[in-house]
Amino acid sequence: MMKTIFSGIQPSGSVTLGNYIGAMKQFVELQHDYNCYFCIVDQHSITVPQERLELRKNIRSLAALYLAVGIDPDKATLFIQSEVPAHAQAGWMLQCVSYIGELERMTQFKDKSKGKDAVVAGLLTYPPLMAGDILLYNTDLVPVGEDQKQHIELTRDLAERFNKKYNDIFTIPDAHIPKEGARIMSLTEPTKKMSKSDPNKKSFITLLDDPKQIEKKIKSAVTDSEGIVSFDKENRPGISNLLTIYSVFSNQTIPEIEDKYKGKGYGEFKSDLAELVVKNLTPIQERYYHFLESKELDRILDEGAEKANRIASKTVKKMENAMGLGRKRK
Ligand code: TYM
Repeated sequence: MMKTIFSGIQPSGSVTLGNYIGAMKQFVELQHDYNCYFCIVDQHSITVPQERLELRKNIRSLAALYLAVGIDPDKATLFIQSEVPAHAQAGWMLQCVSYIGELERMTQFKDKSKGKDAVVAGLLTYPPLMAGDILLYNTDLVPVGEDQKQHIELTRDLAERFNKKYNDIFTIPDAHIPKEGARIMSLTEPTKKMSKSDPNKKSFITLLDDPKQIEKKIKSAVTDSEGIVSFDKENRPGISNLLTIYSVFSNQTIPEIEDKYKGKGYGEFKSDLAELVVKNLTPIQERYYHFLESKELDRILDEGAEKANRIASKTVKKMENAMGLGRKRK
């Protein structure tokens, strides 16, 4: 039987090159060989403050982007998390098998709550909601960037705990992390992950940036004073990050690129990289604006939610049964 994939992206602002390389690009490649569910995880987004109209806009924009990068709705199910109530239901039941201690140990929780005195509970209970997303569809594989690995490990723990304590209903999923580009770094501080929530807009490129912005950001990307285009992640994270991006967009290996730029400086390399990124993003942007305005987008999301609801509500019933919630039904 065809194996199942689930993954999600938060509609919280722009989609970055990190999201694209670490996640979306794999989705497009994997959709041919797996039964895929791709989700716009809007309920995850409200764990941090959101402006309602902005959030609505971002949800639609992310849906259009999924299609623009090449997700084929005839192959994959694309839907919005809040339109499938089973996610919140499963999230609640999984919260009841999660320990506060293990949730407090999540790096993302530590990072996002650091220095804040009023931390919403949703920020802590986010991982069991994410576990619910995945487990509802009997998922085998979860394609994600490296930063989500810890959450997938927790998902596995929760699934095993639930299976043991109640009934053996969940498939134990594996993370699927790309070999190259699992962690695209900030352009301004290359020891930090590229992140859409970074206040410094020069630190990330979004899929909707125009050619001028892309060129400017790449040209001002932090490198080092060695001036040699070669890969050394530990000691020269800036140039190594740019080489990774180059490699992903050109389908050339890093040694091939190093060879090509032997004896040449960062200037020429950066200007070619900017051209390469623009060349890759332009067709995505054209398709994006087409889908954003189209009625087709709503039809795809309606059909996606319907299918996801059908599958996910069955799993919720199984979970409720296993836990003894509600009444017994024939
Ligand atoms: P989110 O929205 O932060 O990111 C979406 C995807 O992009 C990957 N990613 C990166 N990959 C490489 N380099 C980067 N700099 C980079 N930044 C982000 C992320 O690893 C992710 O794969 N919790 C998830 C959303 C989620 C989810 C799920 C994912 C909710 N439920 C179920 C998988 C399965 C998140 O916040 O991703």
